[in-house]
Amino acid sequence: MPRRLAHLLNVLLLFGPCSLPPMLSVPPALAEPALVKPVGQFDADRPLESTFYSARDRIHPIFARSGMVASQEALATQVGLDILKQGGNAVDAAVAVGFALAVTLPQAGNLGGGGFMLVYDTAQKQTEAIDFRETAPAAARRNLYLNATGEVDETRLRHSHQAVGTPGTVAGLALAHQRHGRLPWRALVEPALHLAERGILVRPELAQSLLEVRQQMTRWPASMKIFFKADGAPYQPGDTLVQADLATSLGLIAEQGANAFYEGAIAEKLVADMQANQGLISLDDLKNYRAVVRTPVKGHYRGYDIISMPPPSSGGVHLIQILNILETWPLAELGPESAATLHRMAEAMKLAYADRSEYLGDPDFVKIPIAGLTSKAYAKTLAAHIDLNRARPATDIKPGQPQPYESGQTTHYSIVDRDGNAVAVTYTLNFAYGSGIVVAGAGILLNNEMDDFAAKPGVPNAYGLISGEANAVGPGKRPLSSMTPTLVFKDGQVVLVTGSPGGSRIITTVLQTVLNVIDHRMNIAEATLAPRIHHQWQPDELRVEEGLSPDTVRLLGGLGHKVVVKDTMGNTQSIVRAPEGLFGFSDPRRAGSLTAGY
Ligand code: GLY
Repeated sequence: MPRRLAHLLNVLLLFGPCSLPPMLSVPPALAEPALVKPVGQFDADRPLESTFYSARDRIHPIFARSGMVASQEALATQVGLDILKQGGNAVDAAVAVGFALAVTLPQAGNLGGGGFMLVYDTAQKQTEAIDFRETAPAAARRNLYLNATGEVDETRLRHSHQAVGTPGTVAGLALAHQRHGRLPWRALVEPALHLAERGILVRPELAQSLLEVRQQMTRWPASMKIFFKADGAPYQPGDTLVQADLATSLGLIAEQGANAFYEGAIAEKLVADMQANQGLISLDDLKNYRAVVRTPVKGHYRGYDIISMPPPSSGGVHLIQILNILETWPLAELGPESAATLHRMAEAMKLAYADRSEYLGDPDFVKIPIAGLTSKAYAKTLAAHIDLNRARPATDIKPGQPQPYESGQTTHYSIVDRDGNAVAVTYTLNFAYGSGIVVAGAGILLNNEMDDFAAKPGVPNAYGLISGEANAVGPGKRPLSSMTPTLVFKDGQVVLVTGSPGGSRIITTVLQTVLNVIDHRMNIAEATLAPRIHHQWQPDELRVEEGLSPDTVRLLGGLGHKVVVKDTMGNTQSIVRAPEGLFGFSDPRRAGSLTAGY
């Protein structure tokens, strides 16, 4: 039933037949159900957004009619928007934004890393997942990162040429363009080239992040040459950062396509750098690299279809698993930030991360029980064991070793075009600036993604994440990821495009965006700003952002949670597609992001 008609019937029932005349004089504002937020009521048929803004909302999203780009860096968003306005589709814009971020957000945007893209094609009515995750070089072996006493050598694993996986980004963007692109390849690479050549304004967040990585970079003259001044002084906010070598590499990629990176001049420079520094990547590794098209994982949650990234990312599987568990309870009634809701979320998160440690890895090498992990029946058995009055100690779920060390820089962007095609991309170098190593003469930062493997199964990685044999190092294997680019559908239409950086917190950040939009009916700006929580089983702590009420924290403590307040988590870039148009919002947790549309 159309919602206006349904609302009129409700008014009729409320006032009774005798009240008919007053009903006719109800002002339009009151007759519009979007004005009033349902408190504790779940209504799957209510649109997720409306231009008829709720007077209860403290913040509102960006609105556009035709196309929209949400990314973590304003110049890159602008590049994507220009491509859409020139008649490019969402994939064209995604390719251009991917290259632009490699210049304007060098902490995470990249050519020397890897990631994942979800593409919804309206003409085919299908979503495909493009996996451009890095692979372990052919020379990589299971115990590569163990020292003579069998311990993990963290420097080799995270800050050396051996930390680098064979990059996938250029191949991934090229594959997406080949399958879905409309504009010429060159037109999508050139905006990034110009930004690298002319230079970008150094904003405070870039200056600060460079200071933080300085110690790592001092070991690598090629990195210092680009990211610090000739005398080694740091760039200050307001300076201009030119990346001439990167501009040359982008010029080659614009002319020759991905081959320039995997077989041409760039490949030769990269391998020369590897050979001079005991790195493992060979010309054959680069030549043999392939981005792969995979079938996304699919779930169903309170009347919505959830489409997300399959392995070798753990993101989609565990997003769906946690949603399935949470479907047991009426979260809308329990309230978005109540201890009752947060307790259920934390308990569900723990169970999912425990399963992650056991079962997830590269699907081309290990068999992953995806159907079981994402099944409603399995979720039901897990939910049945959640005690609503007591937090279950992580050690009761599975033994593990807490590890407080953390890091994390990845980036996500979301795009919708005027035809309704939608793209969600999360890609990364792993740490901020990856390994900190720039390929001499090519200006390309290299990832340190090998740390996402279980260097020693059972020992946590830099995010404190434990994984096992399924994620052991092996030649040609892709390390397990948490990246969770996600599309939500209602009645066959895309209604939400979202994703986030944040290392191990990516899955729970995306989860909360979905819950805030679907269960709590927040507009996408409010859904983004709401305080986040995270539990990853090990360490056994409930990490929360500032902003929860002390009463809630006390109640959670009373249930047995070890609540710790730490830095903010994630940086979502989200677009909601509603009947009236597009509503987007860039997470302000990291400075410099922009959602824009036309
Ligand atoms: N490097 C972080 C991830 O892939 O999850």
